[in-house]
Amino acid sequence: MILKHADVVFCDGVKKADIRTEGGTIAEIAPRIAGEGIDCTGLTVFPGLIDMHVHLREPGFEKKEDIESGSRAAVKGGFTQICCMPNTRPAIDNKVVVTYIKHRARQVGLCKVHPVGAITEGQEGKTLAAIGAMKAAGAVALSEDGKSVASSKLMANAMQYAADFGLKCLCHCEDASLVDGGVVNEGYYSTLTGLKGSLRAAEDCMIAREICLAESLSLPVHICHVSTYSGVQLIREAKARGVEVTAETCPHYFTLTDAAIASFDTNTKVNPPLREERDRLAILEGLKDGTLDCIVTDHAPHHFDDKNVEYDLAAFGISGLETSFALSYTMLVRSGVLTLCELAQKMSGAPAGILSLPGGVIREGMPADLTVVDLNARWTIDPAAFVSKGKNTPFVGREVYGRVKYTVVDGEIKYEETI
Ligand code: DOR
Ligand code: ZN
Ligand code: ZN
Repeated sequence: MILKHADVVFCDGVKKADIRTEGGTIAEIAPRIAGEGIDCTGLTVFPGLIDMHVHLREPGFEKKEDIESGSRAAVKGGFTQICCMPNTRPAIDNKVVVTYIKHRARQVGLCKVHPVGAITEGQEGKTLAAIGAMKAAGAVALSEDGKSVASSKLMANAMQYAADFGLKCLCHCEDASLVDGGVVNEGYYSTLTGLKGSLRAAEDCMIAREICLAESLSLPVHICHVSTYSGVQLIREAKARGVEVTAETCPHYFTLTDAAIASFDTNTKVNPPLREERDRLAILEGLKDGTLDCIVTDHAPHHFDDKNVEYDLAAFGISGLETSFALSYTMLVRSGVLTLCELAQKMSGAPAGILSLPGGVIREGMPADLTVVDLNARWTIDPAAFVSKGKNTPFVGREVYGRVKYTVVDGEIKYEETI
């Protein structure tokens, strides 16, 4: 396959080039390559996007999403590789579930799916899961996502074991005793709505703990979905001291604030909660200065019935795979916070680096994972058009730029926009 006349996003700049793929890898990149190909005039080619934080819900919650619908949503969103979180039923806490997910994902045959194993058996926070066996079966990281491991001692053991097997812990940071039933950010809007608030400290205390553990054990750690200005600062300071900490945030944290909850729209209910303008600005700053390494979706699809209830009772989460690129491009690149190269780094290069996944850059010899987008296409977010089973988005009606035209995985077109 040859992509012709494209604007190609390399690590060091955007250049016009043709790209030829062969046998699943990038065989040649040159100003002009002879032969038939796809005309990409006016289109931009990114290294295949990688989302290292996705909830696919299978096994157990296929009503919300399954590996097939989630993979479809991923390639439609431009993602060539995704990592799926272990809070399924049963949890991804053993090699059988890891093997099943990889097998099913290969059958579906759209994007590459990398399972993330649970830290503890059944995510119950009591006994470490079979980390070595999960790694051997193909788990790429460990996480207790949905919650934190409450016991600091157990978490220290987990980091040590994970490191012994070459895995990192991806830490959902939440001190449950501080959250204490809170469903939104504690502040003006929790008071206005009467919804129970949760302090930034509920997130920050756990970010600080994970950093302390990583620092004193000299081990790496990755902080999930950072939402607070103070969390950004903790990570910035830790990095400056040389702690091997990496971090992610999500489009909703740099696009929205808790003002959105005044609508009582349960699609604004997410964990950690939407914060304040001060936090949103700090997230932008953190992305710009490199404190926040990558952008993930935390794609958390839910069934209509899980959201069509009182705010207190609704499930936490946002369906994000099909809006992430456009929101990120619109909010970050069009507004001048990041360059296209920096966006490619946040959405592909950095996750590949953090998890040692193949890909992440466009270079001869790399896997032919490519995302072709029309950056000038303006569109309106409409969940009715989602292929994900999860229609839960707080971005209904929002105008964004950047439309995925083709998603290429190992040299094969796995998604093509049809209009
Ligand atoms: O909003 C969230 N949804 N946050 C989480 O930590 C879990 C996720 C889910 O699984 O629905
Ligand atoms: Zn989480
Ligand atoms: Zn999550």
